[in-house]
Amino acid sequence: MSTFREVFGAEPEVTAEAPGRANLIGEHTDYSGGFVLPVTIPQRTQVQLRRRTDGVARVHSVQLGETQTYRLGAEAPRHDWLDYVQGVTAVARPRTLSGFDARVDSEVPLGAGLSSSAALEVSMLRALRQSFGWELDDVRLALLGQRAEVEFVGAPVGVMDQMASSLGEPHAALFIDTQSLRTERVALPAGLAIAVVHSGISHDHASGEYRARRRECEQATLALEVTSLRSLTAEDLPQIAELPSPLDRRARHVVTENARVLEAVEALRIGALERLGALLAASHRSLRDDYQVSVPDLDRLVTLAAEAPGVFGARLTGGGFGGAIVVAARPDGLRASMERVAERYRTQTGRTATVLVPI
Ligand code: GLA
Repeated sequence: MSTFREVFGAEPEVTAEAPGRANLIGEHTDYSGGFVLPVTIPQRTQVQLRRRTDGVARVHSVQLGETQTYRLGAEAPRHDWLDYVQGVTAVARPRTLSGFDARVDSEVPLGAGLSSSAALEVSMLRALRQSFGWELDDVRLALLGQRAEVEFVGAPVGVMDQMASSLGEPHAALFIDTQSLRTERVALPAGLAIAVVHSGISHDHASGEYRARRRECEQATLALEVTSLRSLTAEDLPQIAELPSPLDRRARHVVTENARVLEAVEALRIGALERLGALLAASHRSLRDDYQVSVPDLDRLVTLAAEAPGVFGARLTGGGFGGAIVVAARPDGLRASMERVAERYRTQTGRTATVLVPI
């Protein structure tokens, strides 16, 4: 592993970090102005940076062992990891930016639905903010990261991941109202720990399905004559049931999921952990049956995790079609218990699951 000095011949001026995230509950609601409740994970991305004055950006990836170079103002997609960095500098204009050398070292697993891209965008933006003295609060920083991904990378994501990476803190979930961008930290009670297990199924191919779900939500919004699905509640479910399929199911997921997030916040506050677990289970069923973003082996992993001792509930986390599950459980022996789940999953599916949290 090369140090900054080995790659660039000088010491870095700043070091910034940002974590990946797992979403506890509130899935596929953020692009409908809904509620989400992510937690940060211990795995982080670190960016070391040194300014240059010649308008050039040189970026080294420790994991890939490669350095790429581009000229600021001439960002052009290369359809690889550098696009997240180029996206950031492209949307950061007209802020002061005279060039830089950056070394990126990430522990956040790729393709697991744990927001490795948001961790890269946010850590890079933090390093640039510090180096170039940008006035940029953490919410606006998250919004810039999201713009990099939507406008430059071309992934039409919501704002959850960048907000979670930018504003999340350990030992608390981050409630986000994605319409107002109001956030609130909700402490995780002492008897609760979070596990994250990667299914071994990469979610990389999921972007077409993500677009399709977004479009269906927009169609449902138009058909229901509302400004966003966020404005609907359980009282609107009879009207939602009249929509043509699959818009009825998609809208029902968003409405019931928003309600589950609010209930989960309350459950965390009062330490009602069985209730929290039931909400996670209901969220998974809704994602599987109404939103249709699960796959059978992911369902299997969720079932196996939910059956393990001390587990309150489990569900897929992130966009779906693979990636990781999130598990709410008692802290004692959690890692060993999840290793046993992974072993059973391997026997039943032939796939290798990886316990990512607790580390
Ligand atoms: C991805 C997107 C988020 C969110 C989730 C689904 O992680 O980046 O904005 O839409 O999918 O909840």
